[in-house]
Amino acid sequence: MSPPRLLIDIHTHVYLPRYAAFLRSRASVPRILTRTSPEGRQEERLLILDDEPSSGRPIGAQYWDRDEKLKFMDRHAIDVSVVSSANPWLDFLPASTAHQLAGELNDDLETYCSTGPSLSHITGVKRLYGFGLLPLVPEASTEAIISTVEQIAKLPHLKGVIMGTRGLGKGLDDNALEPVWAAIEQAGLVVFLHPHYGVDKNAWGEKENGHVLPLALGFPFETTIATTRLILSGVFDRHPSLRLLLAHSGGALPQLSSRLASCIEHDPLVASRLAHDARYYLGKLYFDAVAYGSEELGFVSDAIGRADKYSRSGTSAGASGVKDASADGAEQRRSGTRRMLFGTDHPFFPPLGATEKWKSVVENLEAIDGVWGWSDAEKDAVRGGNAFALFNLGS
Ligand code: URA
Ligand code: ZN
Repeated sequence: MSPPRLLIDIHTHVYLPRYAAFLRSRASVPRILTRTSPEGRQEERLLILDDEPSSGRPIGAQYWDRDEKLKFMDRHAIDVSVVSSANPWLDFLPASTAHQLAGELNDDLETYCSTGPSLSHITGVKRLYGFGLLPLVPEASTEAIISTVEQIAKLPHLKGVIMGTRGLGKGLDDNALEPVWAAIEQAGLVVFLHPHYGVDKNAWGEKENGHVLPLALGFPFETTIATTRLILSGVFDRHPSLRLLLAHSGGALPQLSSRLASCIEHDPLVASRLAHDARYYLGKLYFDAVAYGSEELGFVSDAIGRADKYSRSGTSAGASGVKDASADGAEQRRSGTRRMLFGTDHPFFPPLGATEKWKSVVENLEAIDGVWGWSDAEKDAVRGGNAFALFNLGS
């Protein structure tokens, strides 16, 4: 049976009220502070990035109020949202606080979803689902992390976990995370890999460019590096059923994947470590479609769609659904669409002036609509069908 035609947003954030209150109680970054605006109003500001301008960013009810999320969804005809806590999650907390808060926030998010509305036209499907949080911080015990994986797996509206790139402090290729990947794989949870730290701020020079360089470049480069390290560590060979969804269309990874493959081939230290060519692993990943341009989306689908050509086992990529190696370019582009999913990044990137619809959302929808070579069915899949299947929303 083909999945229903739905618009499903898989990249959409919340600061749950408990978390927002916690940020308000803090005197150092990350925090929410109250200040008097240049116009003399009292306003709250969000400060979460280490090197951001000291005024931070505006923040309001759209970050924590579920009614605001639903209003936003209605305004943009979004049927279902898979909501995740926004960065920096629990990264800055001591292990015991992180563990306790993870448990509480996961329960809060389950309530946020389960007590929300259902779709009126499809029985048994809610409008809100979520990604839980793990207490991934230095000194966290494996038991604490795995017990939280088990907690999330039991919460029916939580379909995965959102994760930053730091892991236990040494990144995601840390051997100590092996049991965590195994537990996540076994629980069938989707990992949504999302950036927060960017890259070394010295790369940005001395000119004041607001948030542009860290958000446009730092975020996607961070995702690129973290995912590449995961590939190099062999995680996808050891955990072939692990499902990893990359924010911002995988950053620069699709563009750099052949260069990566070539560098591996020429490096005896790594060449024999991996079961497949680096490009094969792109067909094991999922990519959000938050790229704002049709050409970029088409390119990402090309890079995913060719993955099976690079399997060294000679078998099909199985779960990826990628067709045989002789597929022509158009077919390759189309097969890549099965791993791409619409997202908005709400409530970040609000419009600067009063508009009915958010430019950031309209651009991402128009980008999907305009990709050369994608059929209507494939565009529908990216808009919602893939998410419906990946998160098993029909069951
Ligand atoms: N800025 C952030 O800090 N996080 C996002 O997810 C998007 C923009
Ligand atoms: Zn985001």
